[in-house]
Amino acid sequence: MSSAPATSMHKPARPGDAYAAPVRDLVATMPLTQIGEVANLGRGDPDVIKLWFGESDLKTPEFIGRAANKALAEGYTFYTWQRGIPPLREAIARYTERVYGIDCKSDRITVMGSGMQVIALACQAIIDPGDNVVVVSPAWPNVINAVQVMGGLPREVTLDFKDGRWSLDLDRLFAAVDDRTRALFVNSPSNPTGWVMSSADQKTALDFCRSRRIWLVADEVYARLVYDRPVAPSFLQHAGPDDPLIVVQSFSKPWAMTGWRLGWMTSPANFGDMLAKPIQFNTSGSPAFLQYGALAAIEEGEEFLKHMVERCRAGGEIVFQRLAALPRVRVARPDATFYTFFAVDGMTSSLELAKRFVLETKVGLAPGSAFGAGGEGYLRLCFAQSPERLATAMDRIEPLLR
Ligand SMILES: Cc1ncc(COP(=O)(O)O)c(C=O)c1O
Repeated sequence: MSSAPATSMHKPARPGDAYAAPVRDLVATMPLTQIGEVANLGRGDPDVIKLWFGESDLKTPEFIGRAANKALAEGYTFYTWQRGIPPLREAIARYTERVYGIDCKSDRITVMGSGMQVIALACQAIIDPGDNVVVVSPAWPNVINAVQVMGGLPREVTLDFKDGRWSLDLDRLFAAVDDRTRALFVNSPSNPTGWVMSSADQKTALDFCRSRRIWLVADEVYARLVYDRPVAPSFLQHAGPDDPLIVVQSFSKPWAMTGWRLGWMTSPANFGDMLAKPIQFNTSGSPAFLQYGALAAIEEGEEFLKHMVERCRAGGEIVFQRLAALPRVRVARPDATFYTFFAVDGMTSSLELAKRFVLETKVGLAPGSAFGAGGEGYLRLCFAQSPERLATAMDRIEPLLR
């Protein structure tokens, strides 16, 4: 006996019904990030200079790999601590004290499988459906998705770009908060703009969150990639150990470890203890042998970091000089991160122009519209690359920007 295929009998009434069995509409209809959309046009083409993602072309330094290999060979291959191996948590606490000149105990540190995971698990812990999170924008798009997947509503408050500088109006930021707001999300130094929040504004924002009993989620993954001082101002410098502050940090950017998927959170100790539960049912902890590599990075990584910063500084300057000479382009000299986020006058769609760059010039850039409110009109270029590749990329893209 034959029967008609199920697909012809059951036309999907909802997007989530289009699968072998139903999935959540919210996830089924989530768009591919626009950066992914552009990257798919040239991902496999070795001639494309890929400046669309946020990573360096440098490999992870050997001393970090050696430490992980040694731990692997020694058998650190078992289930491990939910909040990270104790020696790494202690080393991160010492690093925090050294870099920021503050007291920090290891009970405030939780190691997780990337900065992204810190954000995602913090969202699991603080957002009920219908709650909102106020996000400073333009913002890294994954944050918006992490809020939405929990049924939360992101509320974007845009930075202003005037006279070559980005700035944030704190009154507008605070006005966006209501009684369903669970957190302010601030990424400083900012991807994509390179904006750095002042220490005074950080203090004001943290005081505001304390008084309203909402979380301040501070994404500081670019804290060490700064060019006008040793480290960017941190919310940690204004916080006591029990303040409503969750700081997101990552091994990815400073030590060229994007593929390792390791990051850490600094938070009140009891928040870290509570988060061990979602860690348990999401990943059950990060691989112990990789954490030994991270331990080497945090304890012996300053020299490499210096090299990374100098290389990025030089790359940023090459790109800045070339872009600033183009009459249609408005661009700020980057003080931090490894991105240039530049405005192109007369551009109607950054997504369409980014696609043309890949197809016609073989240079991959990220469209500003990928970064939410306030992002259209801009393109993002990651300059954590060799000077030669950056010069070639600029030679290729300049004709389309004239
Ligand atoms: C602003 C921002 N936060 C967090 C992350 C997460 O980094 P990772 O998940 O590699 O630790 C990134 C990565 O691009 C980022 O740009």
